[in-house]
Order: sequence, then structure tokens, then C-alpha cells
Amino acid sequence: MAAGAAFANSKTFPYQEFEQRIAKKDFRDMTKEVLPTPCMVVDLDLFEKNLKTMADYAKSAPIQLRPHVKVHKSVDIAKRQVALGAIGITSATIAESELMSRGGIKGVLWTKQPASYNNIVRAIALSKADPTFMFVVDDASVLAKVEEAAVAAKVNCRLVVSVFAGLTRQGIANGQPAVDLAKRVMSTKNVSFEGWMAYSGGASHTKGWEARRKKSVEDLSGVNETVALAKKAGLPNGIVSGGSTGTYNMDHELGLTELECGSYVFMDSLYRAVGGKSDDKVYTDFENSLSIITTVDSKHHAGQATIDYGNKALLQPTDQVKGMPWMKLEKQGAEYGILRWTDGGGETKVGDRVEIYCSNLDMSTNCYDRYYIARGNQIVDVWPIMGRAGAAQR
Ligand SMILES: Cc1ncc(COP(=O)(O)O)c(C=O)c1O
Repeated sequence: MAAGAAFANSKTFPYQEFEQRIAKKDFRDMTKEVLPTPCMVVDLDLFEKNLKTMADYAKSAPIQLRPHVKVHKSVDIAKRQVALGAIGITSATIAESELMSRGGIKGVLWTKQPASYNNIVRAIALSKADPTFMFVVDDASVLAKVEEAAVAAKVNCRLVVSVFAGLTRQGIANGQPAVDLAKRVMSTKNVSFEGWMAYSGGASHTKGWEARRKKSVEDLSGVNETVALAKKAGLPNGIVSGGSTGTYNMDHELGLTELECGSYVFMDSLYRAVGGKSDDKVYTDFENSLSIITTVDSKHHAGQATIDYGNKALLQPTDQVKGMPWMKLEKQGAEYGILRWTDGGGETKVGDRVEIYCSNLDMSTNCYDRYYIARGNQIVDVWPIMGRAGAAQR
């Protein structure tokens, strides 16, 4: 039997040509059915809508947008964000910063300070190669090491002081300690002071829009005191960068000059549950534009089936099954997951494709190599997910 004959709804696709076709960007007859699973698929219409919603909002607020790329790790996506008005991108690791900068993205802001020899050397090299690159410091000892390396390399580094905004993982204490560090930056050789980074990560997933706004106000109050004190002390005005997808439509009123939102491009099931301004239960401002396609591989027991989406593909019981809210996911093992359902909802059968909304975007995208870009059922492009493997990852 010809391969295509068993799949009445799909054409016979020459799978042996799959990679060559992708390399040539020849997507003829490449539909979702022929993709290997589990794989990540982006609904292009919904994705473009998300990008436009955020870009339009930033313009109208007005506030600058420097979107976080840890969620997508894709130069293709960063370029689209810049084309819609973003002033650069925000990154979590030096490797992400290098990849984005080498991919042609200007205005990269790296939000972790370089505390190790490896990170300092790379931050200096990137500052040399790309004078628009900025990175944070929240500690005078790191600043001293950066100065030494920058002077030796005859490079200027653009520094942003990371201040506490409710998240204990980083940020110098607000008020005098923060201002003193900024003054120290000003008097350090081969560096310039560019402003403040204040990521209020605790606010981003606070449930309910009003509660989220209250948390964001609390988290940013110390930051605003610092900025006022710095002004009084004669420090130059600079950027105040922070915010998230959860707080994008409040932060322009709370002292930030730019937003570092990341998840809005795709959204995940945990973010959708935080509730929005218009709907307290579901955060509908942005659409679920990313799903993971899986295949039902086995089914022999009532009320359950096995899919090829397991621990290695980052199955989480909080993931959601697209279009089938009665289905629940359970971990089974490295390569398998269990779909479980209660009577009345509807079943799946062997060979079915089931689409999953992941719970935690940046964790999941880090497990996949590429996004298959789809308009409806048709694949129209493939974008690599970069910087995941080997030394370049960090
Ligand atoms: C420093 C920083 N800024 C911004 C963000 C983006 O947040 P979100 O994905 O919630 O929009 C993150 C995400 O973890 C972050 O670590």
C-alpha cells in the first residue's frame, strides 16, 4: 500500500525530501499531518495578531518595547518584533545576547550580570563588536572586574543598574545603595551609565488584573524612589526597563520607560490563567499561537490513550489539550505521556493528532529545534530555535 493511501485526508508527501525541502523553503504539500511529532507549530495569524496587539499598545501608551527573547530564542521572531517598532531585545544569557546581536538585532539588553570570568570576557567582546549592547550590574565587585577587563580591551561597556523590584533573585537594594552603585558606574573607567533594570517578576503571574496592578505598584515603588533620588543626586536620566506580559498595560503609568514582555508572542496555559482586565478568569489579551502536535500511539485501556509527548518533550500535567478541555495529561516516562478523559467528552483513537498548549513557554521551547510555521493546516515556513545546545547555550 502506498504511504499516502492509509491517510485519506493527506496527500502523499515524499518524506525522504523533508529536510531538503525545508532547506530550500519549498513547503509544497507540507501539512501538519506529515510533521514528525512531538513538534512545535506556530499559528502565523494568531502570532502576528499578538505581535501587533503589543506593538500597537506600546505606541499608544506610549512606552518603548524591548521584548524578552528567552521565550522564543528566534532571530526570525526578534526581527519581526523590531520591524513593528521594538527598540531592541532583552536576553537572559550571554549566549542569547551573542546570537541576537550576530543575527543583526541592535539594542540587546542582557539582564543577568557577568559574575564569572567566562561571562565577563564575552560581555566585553560583545560590547566591542556591538556598541549598542547593554548589560546589567547589581554588585560593585562585578563592576570592578568589568572595569579591569574593559580597560585592558580598550572597550566601552554600556551598563544598566539592576535594582530590586520584588523578586529576590537579583537587584541591588533601592534608595541610597542603588544610587551609590550608579554613581560608581559614572566614575568607573570605560563604562557608561544607561539607566535601571527593574523586573517585577512576582507581579507578572499574579491572578486578577486589579491584584496584579496592586502588586506591580508595590514592587515598583522602591524603584521610583531610587530614580527620584538619582535625579536629585544629579545622575543622568536613563532607561527604566522592566515589566512583563502580565503587566504590559499598567507599567507605563508606574514609572517604566520600556517593557521587557516576552510570553505574549505565544502565550502558555499558566499565563492564560492569570486573568485580564476584561475577563478575570482567562487572560484573553493575547492568543495561544503555539501548540505542540503529538500523536496517539497506543490505546488499550478505557478512558486513556498514550501519546508521544513525554518528559523529554517537557509534558506537564498543567498543559492543556487544544479544543478538548475534558482531557487531562499525565506524565508516563521519557517518551510517552498519558491522555486521560472522563465519559461524555469524546475520545481519541490511535493515529490521531492531538495539540497541546504547554504550561511554561521558555522551558518548552528550549527542548525543540524549530518552529513549524502554519497558516491553517499548511506549513509555510520553518524558523530555528537557537542557542539551545552545547557551549553556546549559556
Ligand atoms: C528579566 C525579565 N524581564 C522580562 C521577562 C518577560 O516576562 P514575560 O514572559 O512574563 O512577559 C522575564 C521573564 O522571565 C525576565 O526574566
